[in-house]
Amino acid sequence: MSPRKFFVGGNWKMNGDKKSLGELIDTLNSAKINTETEVVCGAPSIYLDFARQKLDAKFGVAAQNCYKVAKGAFTGEISPAMIKDVGVHWVILGHSERRHVFGESDELIGQKVAHALSENLGVIACIGEKLDQREAGITEKVVFEQTKAIANNVENHWDKVVLAYEPVWAIGTGKTATPEQAQEVHKKLREWLKSNISEQVSKSVRIIYGGSVTGPTCKELASQDDIDGFLVGGASLKPEFIEIINAKH
Ligand code: PGA
Repeated sequence: MSPRKFFVGGNWKMNGDKKSLGELIDTLNSAKINTETEVVCGAPSIYLDFARQKLDAKFGVAAQNCYKVAKGAFTGEISPAMIKDVGVHWVILGHSERRHVFGESDELIGQKVAHALSENLGVIACIGEKLDQREAGITEKVVFEQTKAIANNVENHWDKVVLAYEPVWAIGTGKTATPEQAQEVHKKLREWLKSNISEQVSKSVRIIYGGSVTGPTCKELASQDDIDGFLVGGASLKPEFIEIINAKH
């Protein structure tokens, strides 16, 4: 048995409204959820308060982004202090859409990680290669560099970090990585953590997979040694999410 608690994050992205998210929350609240799995739902910032108030306390809630300082003249941004103020304890940082649609750099993501952790938020830190990078054989180099930029900012807060490996070519495309492809990268990431951080961190940090995870694909992925859960986009908006939460059991 893995010492790492299975972790399933839902990433609602910029989807839903009070009506549809309210219905989704009702479905989650009344579902049979295995208590061995930690579940966190990533809500749009405007619905964080709503989601936290409506979701059963056994579910965590995550913001999908935050800025690198507590407050100030940063129009449109939200801070970890605000996230905590509405009772939310997690934030997703470095998601591929933040990197590739909004141009966030490794440096900015690192600064956000440092600030969010200093405010005691849990961080789901995302990394992943693009298709051309995989085809060029540089997957490892890319994900190691991204991990280093995050790791440089974690200090002694590794217990608050979940690392999400999300190959960009698999996100929202319906092309799930095969269990072997995902396991290979997760294993390499764990080795990287062992060499660059510590053996203890490499054994305890959850490394979750994201990219077109579905009901039919989740079980075999979940059975891989180094896959400790999922970050789920599209399927997290459907009742199918419950099947994914319970993939391990
Ligand atoms: P997807 O998204 O499950 O829709 O591929 C995953 C993610 O972006 O976290």
